[in-house]
Amino acid sequence: MLFRIKHDIVQIREEAMRNIISNKVQDLAPSGIRKFFDLVLGMEDVISLGVGEPDFVTPWKIRESAIYSLEQGYTSYTSNKGLYKLRLYIGRHLKRKYGLDYDPDNEILITVGVSEGLDLAARSIINPGDEIIIPQPSYVSYGPVVSLAGGIPIYIDTKKSGFKLRPADLDKKCNKKTKGILINYPSNPTGISYTKKELKGLSEVILKHNLLVICDEVYDDLTYDFRHTPFATLGQNIKERVIYLNGFSKGYAMTGFRVGFVCGQKEVVSAMTKIHQYTMLCAPITSQMAACEALHSGAKSVEEMKKEYHRRRDYVLERLGEIGLDCIKPQGAFYVFPCVKKTGLSSIEFANKLLKKKKVAVVPGTAFGENYGDFIRISYASSLGHLKQAFERIESFIKSK
Ligand SMILES: Cc1ncc(COP(=O)(O)O)c(C=O)c1O
Repeated sequence: MLFRIKHDIVQIREEAMRNIISNKVQDLAPSGIRKFFDLVLGMEDVISLGVGEPDFVTPWKIRESAIYSLEQGYTSYTSNKGLYKLRLYIGRHLKRKYGLDYDPDNEILITVGVSEGLDLAARSIINPGDEIIIPQPSYVSYGPVVSLAGGIPIYIDTKKSGFKLRPADLDKKCNKKTKGILINYPSNPTGISYTKKELKGLSEVILKHNLLVICDEVYDDLTYDFRHTPFATLGQNIKERVIYLNGFSKGYAMTGFRVGFVCGQKEVVSAMTKIHQYTMLCAPITSQMAACEALHSGAKSVEEMKKEYHRRRDYVLERLGEIGLDCIKPQGAFYVFPCVKKTGLSSIEFANKLLKKKKVAVVPGTAFGENYGDFIRISYASSLGHLKQAFERIESFIKSK
């Protein structure tokens, strides 16, 4: 009887909540990563290769500048667009590094991480029913961000083309409703990146169909095998279509500072600033000051961290080869996306059993798209010592199968 009453109360409460929460939010699936890592919480002695953030602490000079800014009493709002000095530094940085020209006055906006930039980009260009093409596997927020903005995410599976989007596949998916494409390289979760030649091929289709390009290049500093080419450098006619997103989280190990930036045509940046001023107002001043220091003195630290990730990538690839798990060679970021089909387990079974039996956490591929049930994501943003230990456990797990 008591059980029945409790059951009825739960049902009434769920019904009431259905009326309170918007349909759009109810329709969103919870992040596959979060779901899995709720399991990890509370377990002892787990080696986590699941995290998507640097294991390095933010370089000291950058932290010191944040502390100093507080000591000096910088605790106010900044302009909605962000500190002029930071926008100026970003403009100079992009010019120096890539020959890209963005005007700090009206073509650069400081955001609360690339995460906010993605949301602003989607909300400022999407009308209800517009289609946005997303190559998959993709970062977990892309589909939800497009859906929340009223758009329709159209996924292209890249499994058969080494996780890279091919121009012909993009061309096939375009129609009158296609507004743009949301692309990320180096990629989370596969680590693949595109050469200039490959990007040129995609840019021709983009021009043919008059598409906008939301380009998430947050891992640009972590490219190992060739020089990173920003999409916006492919020509003036392409640059006009690009909403360039980047930030300080990955290259400078500043995830907790929550600071990123958006560059684009002044009309688009102004539209994004409108939303930003009503929702965020501005990025935190302490973080913006730290970001200025990152651009002033952080280059050497970025290089050092990159060298270490590169070393780890090579180690992880070697071990995957020894264990016999097939894996596309990643060119950047800090992830590998091997196939676990040979083990006879799905990615979810593999991740769950590996966690329970050997206490190593990896992310099931299905977190990045429904077609990736044969893959897992391993992050090498973990010390070489941890990686060595983790691979011993993974090897013995596979041998015990
Ligand atoms: C591809 C990609 N874009 C954006 C983000 C979020 O970046 P930020 O910390 O700047 O919001 C992440 C974080 O994992 C990511 O992997």
